[in-house]
Amino acid sequence: MGLGKKTVEELDVRGKRVLVRCDFNVPMKEGVITNDNRIVAALPTIKKLIENGGKVILCSHLGKPKNGPEEKFSLAPVAVRLAELLGKPVTFAGDDAVVGENAKAAVAAMQPGDVVLLQNTRFRKEETKNLPEFSQDLASLADCYVNDAFGSAHRAHCSTAGVTDYIKDTAVGYLMEKEIRYLGNAVNDPVRPFTAILGGAKVADKLNVIDNLLNKVDTLIIGGGMAYTFLAAKGYEVGTSLVDSEKIDYCRDMMKKAEEKGVQLLLPVDTVVTASFPDPIDGPVAVETVASSAIPAGKMGLDIGEKTQTLFADAVKASKTVVWNGPMGVFENPILAAGTLAVAKAMAEADATTVIGGGDSAAAVMQLGFGDKMPHISTGGGASLEYLEGKELPGIACIQNA
Ligand code: 3PG
Ligand code: MG
Repeated sequence: MGLGKKTVEELDVRGKRVLVRCDFNVPMKEGVITNDNRIVAALPTIKKLIENGGKVILCSHLGKPKNGPEEKFSLAPVAVRLAELLGKPVTFAGDDAVVGENAKAAVAAMQPGDVVLLQNTRFRKEETKNLPEFSQDLASLADCYVNDAFGSAHRAHCSTAGVTDYIKDTAVGYLMEKEIRYLGNAVNDPVRPFTAILGGAKVADKLNVIDNLLNKVDTLIIGGGMAYTFLAAKGYEVGTSLVDSEKIDYCRDMMKKAEEKGVQLLLPVDTVVTASFPDPIDGPVAVETVASSAIPAGKMGLDIGEKTQTLFADAVKASKTVVWNGPMGVFENPILAAGTLAVAKAMAEADATTVIGGGDSAAAVMQLGFGDKMPHISTGGGASLEYLEGKELPGIACIQNA
C-alpha cells in the first residue's frame, strides 16, 4: 500500500538545506540515553540525505518541558550518540530559542553532507501550540522539509506540521514510510485471521481503537488494566481492580458490537491478584490466581493468569496478522510479567505478520528479550494508537502528495 506522499527518495536535496523532523524523544536517566532505538531508526533517512549531498538540519522534541528551556531536556546527549552512530561530526546548535545565533551560524557554515542538530523544539512555547512565529523561524533555516518523526506524527506542532505552511518542498522519511506500511497493511489489508491485542491501564485511552478495530479484526483480545472494566460490565465482582465506572456501558456496547459483527472477543478467564499495588513497582508482592469471574473483594487484579495466557497464546498462534498495543499486566515487576511475556512469546513464535505499537508493549518485548524476533516494533506509541483509531495523522497529512 503506497502512502501517496512524496518520499525522501524523490526529494532533490543536493546542496540544499533540509530540515528533518525526527523523534529523538528517547528515554534518559541523568543525562544518559537508556534506549537509543529511535535514534537508530532515524539513521536511514539521515544517511540518505547526507549521501545525496543535502545539508542536514535535524530537529526534535525531548520530554515535556513545561516552561521553556531546561538543562535536563537538552538534546546535547543525542548529538553525541548520533555522531557515534553516523561516524561523523554532528554540530549541536544549543540555542534556548532553538533557531538562535548558534543555529543560524552553524547552518550558514554548512557544506553538503554536514549535519546540525537543533535544540529541543519544546524549548519554544509556540511549538505545542503550533503558532506561526516558531514555524517561520524553523522554515527560515531550510529549503526543504522531511518528516521522519512517526512517533510524533499525531501531534500538530510547529516542527511536525506547522512548518509546512512556510516550506513547500516536503517529503516523508524512510521511517515514516515503513511504519505506515506495516501498520497500514496490517489494519487495512490483513492476511486473515487478523487478531488485535489491546492492553494497558485505561479503557478510556482506547475507546476509539476498540470501536474501529471491531470493524476490522477476526479476534480482539483485551487484557491488562482495561480488561477489568469489561469484566465489571459482565457483572463480575472485580475487587479493587482498576475499573472506569463511566465506561461500563461503553464496554457493554462493544461486547454487543463484537457479537453482531461475529468478532471473537477474548477477555481474561483467570487473573493474578494481590492485596495492593506493589510499592515500589518492582518490589516483592504476594500473589494468587483466581477465576476472573470471582475476584475476591479487597483484591486487585494485576496480570492475566495461566489459563488466559494459553487462551491468548493459542489465538495469536492461529492468526496470520497480529497487532499488539499495551501490556497484559504490571510487566515492570517480574512477579507480574508472566502474562505479557506469554503474549510476547506467542507473537515471536507465530507464523504471522506481527506489529507491536506503543511504548510499553515495545519496552516489554525488548526487556523480555524478544526484540529481534519481531518483524516490526513501532517507534510510535500515541501515533500508532491514533492510526489504529482510523485517524489522519497531522505529521503525514501536511506532506505534499506524490
Ligand atoms: C512519544 O514518545 O510518545 C512521542 O515522542 C510523542 O511525545 P509526546 O507524547 O510528549 O507528544
Ligand atoms: Mg507520548
